Amino acid sequence: MTDTNADLAALDHAHNLHPWNQMQGSTDRRVIVKGDGLLLWDDQGNRYLDAVGGLWCTQIGLGRTEMAQAIGDQAQRLAFSSTFVDMSNGPAALLVAKLAELAPGDLNRVHLTTGGSTALDSAFRMVAFAQASMGRPGKTHVIARQHSYHGSTFAAMSMGMRDGDRAPEFRYLSDGISHVNAPHQYRPPDGAEGDLTDWLVAEFEAEIDRIGADRVGAFFAEPIQASGGVLVPPDDYLRRMKEVCDRHDILLVADEVVTAFGRLGHWFASESVYDEIPDMICCAKGLSSGYQPIGALIFSDRIWEAMASEDRWYTSGFTYSGHPVACAAALKNIEIIEREELLANALTMGDVFQSALAPLADLPLVGDVRGKVLLGCVEFVANKVTKALLPDEIDIGHRIADAAEGQGLMVRPIGHLNVMSPALTIDELQISFISETLETVIKTVADDLTRLRFKLD
Ligand SMILES: Cc1ncc(COP(=O)(O)O)c(C=O)c1O
Repeated sequence: MTDTNADLAALDHAHNLHPWNQMQGSTDRRVIVKGDGLLLWDDQGNRYLDAVGGLWCTQIGLGRTEMAQAIGDQAQRLAFSSTFVDMSNGPAALLVAKLAELAPGDLNRVHLTTGGSTALDSAFRMVAFAQASMGRPGKTHVIARQHSYHGSTFAAMSMGMRDGDRAPEFRYLSDGISHVNAPHQYRPPDGAEGDLTDWLVAEFEAEIDRIGADRVGAFFAEPIQASGGVLVPPDDYLRRMKEVCDRHDILLVADEVVTAFGRLGHWFASESVYDEIPDMICCAKGLSSGYQPIGALIFSDRIWEAMASEDRWYTSGFTYSGHPVACAAALKNIEIIEREELLANALTMGDVFQSALAPLADLPLVGDVRGKVLLGCVEFVANKVTKALLPDEIDIGHRIADAAEGQGLMVRPIGHLNVMSPALTIDELQISFISETLETVIKTVADDLTRLRFKLD
């Protein structure tokens, strides 16, 4: 059986439990069989422009022969070699050195992982180990934020806090993790008054007091909370949260799984965009542009030196940590981003993208249009003044995404949002296609809802 003669959708429906699977959802399956640049084809021959970038990850675009060659060559030369204890391999050694070169400040040490969740999970453990090594064994508590998504391992899910993500049967870690509010500019936290950063910093300090500064080990934060709704913080927010962390010997762990590798026009957003150097950076996704599963936890010399003073084992890692084929893919991906100057293209096209999306805010149904560089989000509401949401059964995010797919455009529905993070290779024509298609689709869906006698204010 090959993928050209099988009923792929039926096979998939019969056997595949998808991540974030709606258990009583439709039996429809969109089976993608080919990708080239930003374009995708499904098994029915339909073509789409992928404004989602896979899942925030296909920075260099799909279908690169050079990538296939690098992956194939490495698979032929050395398809696998463990990096446990004192073993290593060429691509792993080259990649950690490259990441140390690209990362800000003294973040020169790397713990390779298999993806974003495992990088976050590793960071969660490293915080306690590092704090103990620095003479502060009580500092194991982690503060994270509402609307955050840090991945799907047990620790990562426990740090995450997005609406609707928590199944009561999955017993999350609550002892040792607490959450403060997100820097949500469109829907500020209840009770937030005055300057949003001032309020959030005060809330953070109060939470540290409540837990006890001698117990708080780390603050985990995405520079822009991606799947929590593309929450772009006030410009001074991260730097000021970092100042609070420094005052209390709290490590700042930047979850840059989405924001690194050009998504915001720089290798990493923490320093270049938000003017702070974290103690640890977790990255994945754009690290290989999705060509291979890989992630990394990059951490400071200061942490390394403290941990290296211990005469004991650092017992964390995965069979596929430093996988040679995945590392070879990441290296080639970084080389392509450098050679084609894709960070610069992201910045130029990012301006075009944000300007093209902004007028959508005037359309019916649209409460907010936000984003930065090549991250975008449209938030839908029933009432633009009260920001009241549409009833769940309207399923507005999906309704818009389905209508867009009908026009050959993929945007990602998350609740009442549509999010976008196209490849860094995007051009002006493709941006026009995205904004014009969204405009048409939003107007059509709004008309349909009016016809259904749904009142939009
Ligand atoms: C900010 C953030 N952190 C972590 C993860 C988890 O990464 P992965 O799915 O590669 O495990 C994601 C995935 O979307 C993410 O958006």
